[in-house]
Amino acid sequence: MPAALLHDAIHHADNMDVLPGLPDAAFQLVYVDPPFNTGASQSRRTLAMVPDADGDRTGFKGTRYRTRLLAESRYRDAFDDYLAFLEPRLREAHRLLHESGTLYFHIDYREAHYCKLLLDELFGREQFLNELIWAYDYGARTRRRWPAKHDTILVYVKDARAYHFDGESVDREPYMAPGLVTPEKAARGKLPTDVWWHTIVPTNGREKTGYPTQKPEGIVRRMVQASSRPGDWCLDFFAGSGTLGAVAAQLGRRYVLVDESPDAVAVMRRRLPEAAVVSGGDRRRGRGDAPRKREAERA
Ligand SMILES: C[S@@+](CC[C@H](N)C(=O)[O-])C[C@H]1O[C@@H](n2cnc3c(N)ncnc32)[C@H](O)[C@@H]1O
Repeated sequence: MPAALLHDAIHHADNMDVLPGLPDAAFQLVYVDPPFNTGASQSRRTLAMVPDADGDRTGFKGTRYRTRLLAESRYRDAFDDYLAFLEPRLREAHRLLHESGTLYFHIDYREAHYCKLLLDELFGREQFLNELIWAYDYGARTRRRWPAKHDTILVYVKDARAYHFDGESVDREPYMAPGLVTPEKAARGKLPTDVWWHTIVPTNGREKTGYPTQKPEGIVRRMVQASSRPGDWCLDFFAGSGTLGAVAAQLGRRYVLVDESPDAVAVMRRRLPEAAVVSGGDRRRGRGDAPRKREAERA
């Protein structure tokens, strides 16, 4: 077993300072739920020059012009920046996955299509397994369009001929119309499909940590049950409140969590007191240098 994976661990660092130091193919499951559009948005402007005696620019033979904005492609740039932020991290996710492993990439419905193209490029289109829809019913409802009440989870496997998937080990759910199936079937429930109806983390529920973007254990549990076995290593490098770690611990899996936010790390330490905590990146360790700063504790 590589030394880096001896303990369940929480890393307090930028994930790009940690991922390169983790061993190839060490993880059976990677779940990530990155923040929306982290890359800085620079707007790209197209200007037209219009002759105007009071204009702000002087051209050939002293003619005055004013500039007129023709187009501003802020959105395109924002997406380019966002994909540039994600790309090296998802490339690392691919390297870190075991050949039977699976990536669950949780993303806002506005970004999902751009990210799908990026993941097709990194993993290969033939490794695309599912688009999961997590549907919930919470929060304000606009009257101007259909209220958006879902997130998208893109599922890619490392190798479509070798991946592990055990739908039978996933908690079943009630039939929508139990009267249409036998009483035995109704009592057993059905396997979830690719549309997952599940509440957000309940305000006063047991699992509520107070971390703003916390995801419910129920949806992460399905991923861990179906795509890993007891004892396997799971990774979340945008870990937030540590939902993946909590679920992995409950199901007898091992975990590595990374987050750069001190608030996230404080929440994870409370939620997962048995984990080792490593502060500071470790980017150069794989290249033979000493880590910048390392504080590993084992409770
Ligand atoms: C949407 S939240 C994840 C929530 C998590 N799934 C949960 O259930 O609590 C995204 C997290 O990514 C972290 N993050 C953003 N950029 C990061 C980076 N470059 N390295 C490590 N963590 C980062 C943020 O601090 C935030 O906690």
